[in-house]
Amino acid sequence: MKSNAIILYASMATSVFASSVNLTVNPSVPSSASLPVPLDFQSFSIEFAFFADFSGNKSHPNKFSNNLLANLRKFNGDVPQILRIGGNTQDHVTYYPNQKESIINNWAGNGGDQPANTSIGPTFWESFTSIDGPKYIFGLNFYKNDSYYLDNLKGEVQQSLEQIPAERLHLFEIGNENDYGALSGFRPPNWTQEDWVTEWNNRAEHIQTANQSLRFFAPSTCCYNITTKWSFFSPWTIWNSTFNYNRHKWIHEVSQHGYISGTGNHPTLQGTLMNHTSVVKNGTIHQSLNALNTAGGRYYTLGETNSISGQGAWGVSNVFGAALFIVDYELYYASFGVRRMHMHQGTAYRYGAWMPISQNGVGPSTNPPYYGHTMVSKFIGNSTKTQINNIDLKSDFHSAYAAYEDGELARVVLLNLQEWNPSGGVNATNATDPSVQALRPNTTFTLDSVIGYSYATVELLTAPGALSTKNITMAGVSYDYELAEGKPVKVGNEVAEVIRPQKNGTFSVSVGASTGALLKFYKA
Ligand SMILES: *[C@@H]1O[C@H](CO)[C@@H](O)[C@H](O)[C@H]1NC(C)=O
Ligand SMILES: *[C@@H]1O[C@H](CO)[C@@H](O)[C@H](O)[C@H]1NC(C)=O
Ligand SMILES: *[C@@H]1O[C@H](CO)[C@@H](O)[C@H](O)[C@H]1NC(C)=O
Ligand SMILES: *[C@@H]1O[C@H](CO)[C@@H](O)[C@H](O)[C@H]1NC(C)=O
Ligand SMILES: *[C@@H]1O[C@H](CO)[C@@H](O)[C@H](O)[C@H]1NC(C)=O
Ligand SMILES: *[C@@H]1O[C@H](CO)[C@@H](O)[C@H](O)[C@H]1NC(C)=O
Ligand SMILES: *[C@@H]1O[C@H](CO)[C@@H](O)[C@H](O)[C@H]1NC(C)=O
Ligand SMILES: *[C@@H]1O[C@H](CO)[C@@H](O)[C@H](O)[C@H]1NC(C)=O
Ligand SMILES: *[C@@H]1O[C@H](CO)[C@@H](O)[C@H](O)[C@H]1NC(C)=O
Ligand SMILES: *[C@@H]1O[C@H](CO)[C@@H](O)[C@H](O)[C@H]1NC(C)=O
Ligand SMILES: *[C@@H]1O[C@H](CO)[C@@H](O)[C@H](O)[C@H]1NC(C)=O
Ligand SMILES: *[C@@H]1O[C@H](CO)[C@@H](O)[C@H](O)[C@H]1NC(C)=O
Repeated sequence: MKSNAIILYASMATSVFASSVNLTVNPSVPSSASLPVPLDFQSFSIEFAFFADFSGNKSHPNKFSNNLLANLRKFNGDVPQILRIGGNTQDHVTYYPNQKESIINNWAGNGGDQPANTSIGPTFWESFTSIDGPKYIFGLNFYKNDSYYLDNLKGEVQQSLEQIPAERLHLFEIGNENDYGALSGFRPPNWTQEDWVTEWNNRAEHIQTANQSLRFFAPSTCCYNITTKWSFFSPWTIWNSTFNYNRHKWIHEVSQHGYISGTGNHPTLQGTLMNHTSVVKNGTIHQSLNALNTAGGRYYTLGETNSISGQGAWGVSNVFGAALFIVDYELYYASFGVRRMHMHQGTAYRYGAWMPISQNGVGPSTNPPYYGHTMVSKFIGNSTKTQINNIDLKSDFHSAYAAYEDGELARVVLLNLQEWNPSGGVNATNATDPSVQALRPNTTFTLDSVIGYSYATVELLTAPGALSTKNITMAGVSYDYELAEGKPVKVGNEVAEVIRPQKNGTFSVSVGASTGALLKFYKA
């Protein structure tokens, strides 16, 4: 036992404290790079019951959300993000044409993060025009199965068509994670995947407009193969010809949900989020689904995703390390071809990129994950021809991506994912001399083969430590609510460092533990 423990300790220490990483960065686009990444790649999903908190209404638009979304769009050529308004609560929504209040959330019997059910009136739809820019996917109620369910659906669709400008209404979604329908008790236990597909198409047919203009986002599966006594629910087999799911060709984009872990799995910052191996390993499911759907001519997206399912975990999803995770996660998925990621948000969710309102003395606030989004947006940039390549460093602790514009290297992201906190050092092993832990360790990344570039600028995504929830900056800029309601504010004296090749094609940069670096390359 004892000697095994020592061997394990020694090999971990080596990988944790690797202080130099050498990587080859191709100056022209390698064949392993993605197709051009859509400029709305980084989109969001907002829990239906909380949409009004995020966007406000006609008389009280939420300027903070407006500012945060505008910041990100600006880096991506002002292309609108797509906000999917849905999630678990969308299947508990009833539309009342005579309701004066825009939305009433009923928390009875539900002490947790979400109301038990929600009712909406016609003024609910003001929230779709109270902030500028984004397009929408409207999440309709699938579960409702009483005598009123069709009127309910038709009411939701009619109001959406009347009140959301056509150019901002991207798609409709009928139901959230209904592969879970039989297990969750919303349908009898003998409910099958075929029943689901039949009911889905029935609903689509009944709400379709006379000129057949409605298009859909589906199947919005939570899971990766649920076997009940009676059926098998699978995002792989739902497309089998047996089911003829897309019989009308109205399904425009595929939506699959995904989280890298769940609260019940006891996720940790270093073990789960700040861990490139964990990101890659968990991504194999989505690689498979992306390949299946792309081969079938379908557009594959993650319609609802974030770090830890169950609205996130304290100390993991809501701290600076989660910002570095957002960068690693989104860029990895972009690199293998996922067309869009909708990072899920809800009021007071642990993984929320921002808290849109003040509630119980908390918020509004810009939260750590938002800073990850700023780095992703800057890395993708504003060209419609950006291709992303994952440079595999075969390490839990280091990750790198290259972005090519028009086939030529434009930017590189380097992530040093070693968890570091000012009071305790790298927590993964906690094995170094405490006096060394007091200094933030650095890793020197040396990039070779970058022939033909005369210099690069380095912008940092950084914070006092991996557990920080405040004092986070991207390129020396803060987007905190307290400073300018989410608009960018330059804080401190940080300027982008300029690095020049040591010899033709070789660039070196030192990146602190728990820090991300964005390098922009210039020829002259
Ligand atoms: C990276 O290259 C430098 C210079 O060639 C060398 O000193 C260093 O050991 C290399 N590091 C690794 C991790 O291979
Ligand atoms: C695109 O980004 C580049 C580099 O940041 C900038 O110089 C250029 O003005 C931007 N173009 C548009 C159309 O936003
Ligand atoms: C499924 O269960 C319901 C009752 O829960 C029953 O009415 C129905 O006949 C069953 N269907 C089949 C195919 O067994
Ligand atoms: C789910 O089932 C399908 C069909 O049998 C199979 O191709 C796929 O690999 C399975 N995926 C997982 C994650 O088990
Ligand atoms: C679905 O397709 C897979 C792969 O072609 C096949 O293995 C499976 O038997 C099919 N299932 C159904 C229910 O048609
Ligand atoms: C990824 O994480 C999810 C959530 O915990 C889990 O359901 C799934 O099986 C994981 N996939 C892999 C390939 O580890
Ligand atoms: C990183 O994740 C992998 C895969 O889940 C795991 O085997 C490894 O132990 C993790 N590394 C750390 C430092 O926790
Ligand atoms: C450091 O790791 C220990 C043991 O895994 C854990 O209990 C502790 O919460 C961690 N501390 C920080 C600051 O992350
Ligand atoms: C980590 O190191 C500190 C300082 O040496 C020590 O007080 C603490 O007990 C260690 N924690 C663990 C989980 O080993
Ligand atoms: C890492 O680099 C920073 C900035 O140059 C420096 O302040 C710090 O002392 C370095 N850490 C170590 C362990 O040398
Ligand atoms: C955050 O920055 C402020 C002002 O620069 C400073 O007073 C405060 O101590 C910092 N907080 C942390 C946690 O580093
Ligand atoms: C760098 O190397 C490339 C390819 O070998 C060569 O074309 C170029 O002239 C070199 N540049 C300098 C400044 O030496």
